[in-house]
Amino acid sequence: MKRVLITGGAGFLGSHLCDNFLAKGCRVIAVDNLITGSLDNIAHLMKNPRFEFIKMDVTNYLHIPGKLDLVMHFASPRRRSTTRAGRSPR
Ligand SMILES: NC(=O)c1ccc[n+]([C@@H]2O[C@H](COP(=O)([O-])OP(=O)(O)OC[C@H]3O[C@@H](n4cnc5c(N)ncnc54)[C@H](O)[C@@H]3O)[C@@H](O)[C@H]2O)c1
Repeated sequence: MKRVLITGGAGFLGSHLCDNFLAKGCRVIAVDNLITGSLDNIAHLMKNPRFEFIKMDVTNYLHIPGKLDLVMHFASPRRRSTTRAGRSPR
């Protein structure tokens, strides 16, 4: 089973990527400091045993034990932030 790390995983694009890779049967680790993202975007994934969320700033040292097949780096806030539902995050 492929293992994917998605930074910015609670953001707009990152959360859709989490959905996509989980739907493909991958294990997904999402890292996000929630500066513009929202847990609302990934709330529906929290009970998925193949999904893990780590609240962390990626500008700090990040060690993910074990093999990763893919790293997708989307931890970079866009200028105007909204949740997937179109609301401003809390
Ligand atoms: N949304 C678009 O249509 C679009 C189009 C082109 C390019 N982009 C670029 O793609 C990237 C992601 O866009 P988005 O729309 O998903 O933005 P977003 O703000 O919704 O998502 C970015 C995520 O990264 C997180 N983040 C920011 N800095 C972080 C840090 N230091 N450590 C951990 N997490 C951090 C935020 O909390 C957020 O959840 C941005 O750089 C944006 O400019 C977006």
